[in-house]
Amino acid sequence: MNPSVPSLAGTTLGDYELSHPLGAGAHGYIYEARHRPSGVRVALKTLHARVEDAAGDRALARFFQEARAVQRIRHRNVVRLYEAGEYRLTGESRLAYFAMEVVDGVTLARLAETDGALDHAAACRMAAQAALGLHAAHTAQVIHRDVKPSNIMLDVHGRVVLTDFGLCRLALSPRLTDARMMVGTIRYASAEMLAGVEPDGRMDLFGLGAVLFNLCTGMHLREQHSLPAVVEAVRNDLDRRRVLECAALPPPLRELLARCVARDAADRPATGLELAGALDDVADVLGRRRAGAGALPSILRAGHGLSARSSSRSGRRGTP
Ligand SMILES: Nc1ncnc2c1ncn2[C@@H]1O[C@H](COP(=O)(O)OP(=O)(O)O)[C@@H](O)[C@H]1O
Ligand SMILES: [Mg+2]
Repeated sequence: MNPSVPSLAGTTLGDYELSHPLGAGAHGYIYEARHRPSGVRVALKTLHARVEDAAGDRALARFFQEARAVQRIRHRNVVRLYEAGEYRLTGESRLAYFAMEVVDGVTLARLAETDGALDHAAACRMAAQAALGLHAAHTAQVIHRDVKPSNIMLDVHGRVVLTDFGLCRLALSPRLTDARMMVGTIRYASAEMLAGVEPDGRMDLFGLGAVLFNLCTGMHLREQHSLPAVVEAVRNDLDRRRVLECAALPPPLRELLARCVARDAADRPATGLELAGALDDVADVLGRRRAGAGALPSILRAGHGLSARSSSRSGRRGTP
């Protein structure tokens, strides 16, 4: 977490009363907050932006444009965005924020850390839900652009929720965000992202394939994730080869994953909907071989997967 970002816990921003952080990201905290007029509980993401020039103004305008697009997506596997707005702080800085649905659960990054490799059928079912969420986004002309385990959550009911649609990146200056984005994202970056080509939804399907590989094997698709190593891997289509040579994966899953992480977007499933169907088919085949597939991972079953927020919010309600 960036120590230069001041904590807003316990303060009030407009209509929102902020309590404790739900999580921390590269650009600030996500707070649990209460929308005072309605009593609704929200996750409030804040973003400091110094807006001193036309470039900053344009960046903020893009942020709100993207927010409006995300607001149009209504799907159970996409985090609901209630409102986006901004506060003027002192001087030239502004605080952009957006209020979204609180997801009571864990990120897939946390899940992979605590549970290691997951049951393959269960992991495919989760990825199928994420693929449906991506399909809804793509249909609304929104490309996520940053599909990775820390941006996908699993709630206590087994619902998979896509979060962190490229909003923060858009709101910051391109120079800053490019550098930051690459740090956490390059393991999951498709060839077209690295080439700077205008992407379509198949970029997100690549990311989801890399996530699923991680969930099923406990390993990263790209162990080497320096920029030169990744560029080299992409040039030689090594991601695909790594999947095809992975003995830990059963053949039908291996073949589907190899398609997802293909260098050329034309070789990947065409849509999230197609991918979701294929993942469910693979899960059906694998599930027949092993009883109990599809159960919640242990981190959620045991109820110890939730961070401190779970105990401190008891008694409050209000998710619409
Ligand atoms: N809607 C939400 N409900 C609950 N927790 C969330 C929500 N959105 C994000 N978080 C938590 O906050 C962390 C950072 O959020 P994220 O939006 O990914 O920020 P960043 O842009 O910095 O990556 C997530 O990894 C997750 O733990
Ligand atoms: Mg994130």
